[in-house]
Amino acid sequence: MCGIVGYIGGQAATPILIDGLTQLEYRGYDSAGIAVIGPSGARRVRSVGRVRDLEATLPKRLAGKVGIGHTRWATHGAPSEANAHPQADASQRVFVVHNGIIDNARALRAGLEADGVELTSDTDTEAIAHLIARTAADTLEEAVLATVARLTGTYALAVLDTAHPDRIVVARNGSPLIIGIGDHEMFIASDVSAVVRHTTQVVHLDDGECATVTAGGFHLFTADADHVGKTATTVEMTAAELELGNHRHFMLKEILEQPYSLERMLTGRLDERFATARLDGLNLDPQALRRFKRVKILGCGSAYYMGQLGAQLIEELARVPADAEPASEFRYRNPLIEPDTLYVAVSQSGETADTAFAVQEVKRKGGTIVGLVNVVGSTIAREVSGGVYLHAGPEVAVASTKANTHMAVGFALLALALGRVRDLSITDGTRIVKALKELPRQIGEIVADGDKVVEAAELLATAPSLFFIGRVRGYPTAREGAQKFKEISYRHAEAYQTSELKHGPLALISPELPTVAIVPDDELLDRNIGALHEISARGGEIVAITHHGVEVDARLVIRVPKTEPELDPILLMIPTQLLAYHAALALGENIDKPRNLAKSVTVE
Ligand code: F6R
Repeated sequence: MCGIVGYIGGQAATPILIDGLTQLEYRGYDSAGIAVIGPSGARRVRSVGRVRDLEATLPKRLAGKVGIGHTRWATHGAPSEANAHPQADASQRVFVVHNGIIDNARALRAGLEADGVELTSDTDTEAIAHLIARTAADTLEEAVLATVARLTGTYALAVLDTAHPDRIVVARNGSPLIIGIGDHEMFIASDVSAVVRHTTQVVHLDDGECATVTAGGFHLFTADADHVGKTATTVEMTAAELELGNHRHFMLKEILEQPYSLERMLTGRLDERFATARLDGLNLDPQALRRFKRVKILGCGSAYYMGQLGAQLIEELARVPADAEPASEFRYRNPLIEPDTLYVAVSQSGETADTAFAVQEVKRKGGTIVGLVNVVGSTIAREVSGGVYLHAGPEVAVASTKANTHMAVGFALLALALGRVRDLSITDGTRIVKALKELPRQIGEIVADGDKVVEAAELLATAPSLFFIGRVRGYPTAREGAQKFKEISYRHAEAYQTSELKHGPLALISPELPTVAIVPDDELLDRNIGALHEISARGGEIVAITHHGVEVDARLVIRVPKTEPELDPILLMIPTQLLAYHAALALGENIDKPRNLAKSVTVE
């Protein structure tokens, strides 16, 4: 979704802004723009389409050492040059880039129009630029504070004022914003990936905070405090991790990275002596962990499916009732928050608005919420009382793969920790610890053996519609498989519980509707094999994802190594990632940036 960059220092701002916007492209956007203040005043350039389209329209000389830029994902108003950011006031004195949504924009715009202001866009952001410019205040900071006091909704703002060319003023409420600290130069971004080439020292703004950013430093303040003290943190990410290298797509790069990223995630977290997981970041001692009678997992999209997988792991290993719910539903239904429930927010980006809101709802009602989050220092990571960082490294492809695997493994660690303070025996704990240690190598085997997957993907890509089925442990894997397939191949893929087929969907089975079946070699194998016979008997084509040695009646069989039954769904998921990738490749789709989707859904 929308992205913000800003620069102030001794270098030419334009190339830095363009590079930052390029780094933010993966988030999804439909227009882009920059504004730079140079010796002859301010200049704004905006364009619909990609950052390279914007670059092509830039004048040869766009001098200036201070500027702001934006990639816009249309919310108020269609993608157009007029609606692209930076938005400006009538005299083009104040320029604003904004992420988030202003809920009272309609009223603010009407008020401005009633005062005779001629609005030139359909955006909520334009109102902010006019309001700042029209506020009678001694300083830009006061004008920004007075304006944000009138806003309801979410925002990360960066404001440039030609009357104060020595600064950028920023503000945050509900949308991420960071300040990157350089050597006599400062950066602003909505996402560290935009600044990591220049600095690894960043300060995360919290809700309600504003900052004056100059070439020499920054000064944080709020409506109530002239000064907020905060120290910088070091970003783990490196610029090299954001490079494609020899890979054709980030999605494939990220699938192939999993053996190494998982190894890193597990380092130091497996306690072989006591057959448990070391999760100090949870900030919950064994007594506190024992106190919980239920676990409720909240996440969106694929993170929610991984939450379902996690709930099963927790029930199986810790024997604590657990369930998962889409955070996007939870937040709207006045949920009951129980003191003896452990709430877990799961998110790759740590910025998903629905999940962040659900976290706040749990906290507001006195619940305990921890996080399974990938992006260090993200909004959700900072809101929760503790958690498990996923350490998957940056995920650039919109379709999430390695972060999902890390979420599933994160839940296995949590289940182990919860189980070992209850009735999970040391023998069973050891069994899981050993199996977790083996997972990276086993994933390596799966991704190295891609031929069958490519063949299956090419077969499935020709079908307009398909089923993904799985039973009990296999069902979240089927749901995630279907999600990945539809996201990037644009083929209709529906997940069903294998057990539910005969209660309705079997009617759809025909040679035109193939089924991807998740068939673990576990206590439900016979039942799953029976369901596959029912599909073949009706002429349905089957691609089975199963273990070595299992006899299945299927057109194509993809085999994965066996692990412990509780962890099987994790390995069975890896071929579904590759299936989606190769199907989209065969169809010639835009794999890393599928239509209509954004990497990080920071609006509601
Ligand atoms: C699917 C996908 C989305 C995200 C969802 C939550 O490939 O990426 O369904 O899983 O938008 O995002 P995070 O995990 O960042 O909260």
